[in-house]
Amino acid sequence: MNRRDFLINSILAIGGSYVLSGCDEKPVRQVTSNQGGNMKVLMINGSSHEKGCTFTALSEVAKELNKEGIETEIIQLGTAAYRDCIGCGACRKLNGRCVFDDDIVNKIIEKAESSDGFVFGSPVYYAHPSGRLLSVLDRAFYAGGKAFAFKPAAAVVSARRAGTVASIDVINKYFTINKMPVVSSSYWNEVHGSTAEDVLQDKEGVQTMHNLGKNMAYMLKALAQAKQQGLTWQELETGNRTNFIR
Ligand SMILES: Cc1cc2nc3c(=O)[nH]c(=O)nc-3n(C[C@H](O)[C@H](O)[C@H](O)COP(=O)(O)O)c2cc1C
Repeated sequence: MNRRDFLINSILAIGGSYVLSGCDEKPVRQVTSNQGGNMKVLMINGSSHEKGCTFTALSEVAKELNKEGIETEIIQLGTAAYRDCIGCGACRKLNGRCVFDDDIVNKIIEKAESSDGFVFGSPVYYAHPSGRLLSVLDRAFYAGGKAFAFKPAAAVVSARRAGTVASIDVINKYFTINKMPVVSSSYWNEVHGSTAEDVLQDKEGVQTMHNLGKNMAYMLKALAQAKQQGLTWQELETGNRTNFIR
C-alpha cells in the first residue's frame, strides 16, 4: 500500500472521529427567498459579515432572480474556521463527499445537487477572494465537482478600492475547469465600499448586480427550454491525462 492509500484508509477507518473532535462549527444562517419558481440559484457569501457589502451585492442579484420566479438561497460562511483540502483523495471513495464531514462543505455539495445555478461572492482581501471561500470551494469542487458541472455560475466581489478583477478571475477558475457556463453582466461583477450603505450608493455596482441577475435568469430559462426540446450537453471526451514527467 502506498503512502497516499494508507492515509486515505486511515482517515476512513477512524470514521471521522478525529475529524469531528476538531469541530468548531458555528451556526450557518441561510436566507431563502422563494417566489414559487422551480429553479434555484445557490449563493455563497464568503465574508464573515453577514449583512456586509458582499451580502448586499448578492441580495441585489437575488432580487432580480426572485422577480423572474427563481428561488435563491444565500449560504453565510460567517466566522467559522474552515479546513483546506489536504489532497488525501478520500472523496473518490466517498461518492462525491469530503472526508471532513463536520462543516458546511458536504452540505453545500448536497445543496448544489438540487440547484440550477450559482453565485459565489467574496470580499477582496489583499487582491484575492477570502481564504475561507477558497478553502470551502477547493473542497466542495474537488469532492463534489459533479454537482456543479454544466450549471451556470458567476463570481461577485466587493472591495473598498482595488483587486476586484484579479479576485473575480480566481473564482471563475472553479467554473471554467468544471464545464460551467460563466454568466456575465454589463460590467465586471464588483461593488465598492466598506459598509452595506456604501455599496447601495455604488449605483453602477448595484446596476451590475441587477443585470447579472437578469442574465442568470435568462441563461437558466434558455437551458431549461433547450432541455425541454431534447437538446442535451454533448458527451465529452475523457481519458487523456498528460504526465509531463518523462
Ligand atoms: C484582511 C482584509 C484585506 C482587505 N484587502 C482589500 C484589498 O486588497 N482591496 C480593497 O479594495 N479592499 C480590501 N479590503 C476591504 C474589503 O474588501 C471591503 O471592505 C469589502 O467591501 C468588505 O466586504 P464585506 O462587508 O462583505 O466583508 C480588505 C479587508 C480586509 C479585512
